[in-house]
Amino acid sequence: MYGIVNKAIEELVKENFGSEIWDKVKTKSGVKVEFFLSNEAYDDSITYQLANAASSVLGVELKEVMILFGEWWILHTCKEKYGQMMSAGGNNLRAFILNLPKFHDRAYLMYPKLAPPEFKTDEIDEQTLLLHYFSKREGLQEFVRGLIQGLSKFFNEPVAIELIESRLDNQDHEIYKISWV
Ligand code: HEM
Repeated sequence: MYGIVNKAIEELVKENFGSEIWDKVKTKSGVKVEFFLSNEAYDDSITYQLANAASSVLGVELKEVMILFGEWWILHTCKEKYGQMMSAGGNNLRAFILNLPKFHDRAYLMYPKLAPPEFKTDEIDEQTLLLHYFSKREGLQEFVRGLIQGLSKFFNEPVAIELIESRLDNQDHEIYKISWV
């Protein structure tokens, strides 16, 4: 994944837990890259190694790290660095989610080697949407939950998020049920 993703993990750890903890995470991960460059594509394994090391150094489950990282990505990386893209995505949570299938199209201009996720949506009723998530990458189910939670906080619209289908249960993709409460 592009370096911006690894940099965001670094920022999340440094700002919440301090530089010394980040140094421990980096050492534990075995990742030898000294500085991540936002616009350079790195092997996906680096991102997973950093997330696993953060889980072990912080003593929290990997899925908690993934959720935290999803929220951080929206509330810090996207909000602070891509404010215009976020505004163009919609001015409420429902509109934003319905636009997600096209969201990464704009990111290609900055990141031409992007391998983005694929999203589809189903409108069930005024209180409920289904978000379908397709990816060639594994293990990001809770990251996506964190992204949705981050968007819910970004728009200040509380929602319940339920993962109703998953590749972990032999389905071919993930389906999140999002309900306005
Ligand atoms: C505001 C700006 C955003 C930018 C610039 C951006 C850019 C990126 C980049 C660079 C990657 C790494 C993929 C790669 O390097 O091949 C990525 C991955 C991903 N993005 Fe975004 N993104 C943004 C917002 C969002 C939002 C709002 C969502 C959904 C709620 C989202 C969902 C994901 C997911 C799930 C992945 C993991 C890739 C996978 O599942 O295969 N992103 N994005």
